[in-house]
Amino acid sequence: MFEHLDALPPDPILGLIAAYAADPNPKKIDLGIGVYRDEFGATPMLDCVVEAEKILLDTQTTKTYLGPPGVAGFNQAITELILGKDSNALRQGRVRTVQTPGGTGALRVAADLIKVAKPESELWASDPTWANHLALFPGAGVSMHSYPYFDAESSSLRFDDMVDALQQRGPGDVVLFHACCHNPCGISPNPEQWQIIADIACVQGFTPMVDMAYMGLERGVEEDCLALRLFSEQCPELIFASSCSKNFAMYRERVGAITIVAQDEEKAAAVESVIHNVTRKNYSMPPAHGPAVVDIILHSDDLRAQWISELGVMRDRINGLRKELSEKIAASGIQRDFSFIARQSGMFSFMGLTVEQVHRLRDEFAIYTVNSSRVNVASFNDNNMDYFIEALARVLDE
Ligand SMILES: Cc1ncc(COP(=O)(O)O)c(C=O)c1O
Repeated sequence: MFEHLDALPPDPILGLIAAYAADPNPKKIDLGIGVYRDEFGATPMLDCVVEAEKILLDTQTTKTYLGPPGVAGFNQAITELILGKDSNALRQGRVRTVQTPGGTGALRVAADLIKVAKPESELWASDPTWANHLALFPGAGVSMHSYPYFDAESSSLRFDDMVDALQQRGPGDVVLFHACCHNPCGISPNPEQWQIIADIACVQGFTPMVDMAYMGLERGVEEDCLALRLFSEQCPELIFASSCSKNFAMYRERVGAITIVAQDEEKAAAVESVIHNVTRKNYSMPPAHGPAVVDIILHSDDLRAQWISELGVMRDRINGLRKELSEKIAASGIQRDFSFIARQSGMFSFMGLTVEQVHRLRDEFAIYTVNSSRVNVASFNDNNMDYFIEALARVLDE
């Protein structure tokens, strides 16, 4: 049965990681990888996670299956974290959260849910969007289109074009948004723009889906939930996919959740039962370790405060690096304006380089990034930023 299969080309990011690992140049820089890095280039565990894992080891008594919803305390804590305890939708019993294997798992479950609920639905995502969105939704049979988002010329949001496009959408359409720290372009609507988007969703009747992979890494935990909260106050039906990979630094533990808001309590229960049905047919039962750790953290005043503080350190470092990089480039004599780096947020920004320039960075300077010139700002540190700017000047011929 496998005789017709040929090896697929490696995923661009995984291929880049392998090429970087094999490069003997001591000055090499990996700007492609999508994980947070500290000033030493490491991706450490958070202290609150280490502490909660100790508590878990001391208190757990069984490894028997979890039920389909997963760790109940995790689901409850994530729901309250993203919507706020005072959420009307929550009080009305219209919200359900089900733990998933990472944010990607939540997106895949969302895709399966859409296929069961309304198979002819069309999904609209920003142009550009996370590369895996483009594979995942069509892979689950959901047809996908894009709406205008990023203006490469000015490295800013095409808000008017986005609004025009959203005004063409209606019932039967699902519109996907990034809650914060847009991957790959680093640009988010501002609070006034989110309000306008939520108003359009309400009037047009499409279903917003919000992917929240970086909550807490743009402006703060509460602030980064703004879009979800505005939608949940105005729209009858919503789908949220959240991830604890980045903000709890629990990448490999695969901690995520799908949260739905339905028009009433009865429908919310129905949707939850469909989610359990689709996950049962997929991976049967969710994993326990990561969500149990997050459950412990979010239900302990001390560990929760520690998490907020550790998350703040990561956020401040990323925002500080953005400012430093944009100021240093401006001071280096490079004529092109890179001040947009400081105005964007999260780990990613497009440098606006050609594929040829990206290849020169790699071949001549051992600086690795994907062909789109998306860089992970968290990869910079005191030892490599100046070297990067020198290389940038050279490939820009300035
Ligand atoms: C936009 C976006 N959504 C979802 C995810 C998925 O995260 P997870 O690792 O939790 O599956 C990522 C991870 O890079 C992402 O960038």
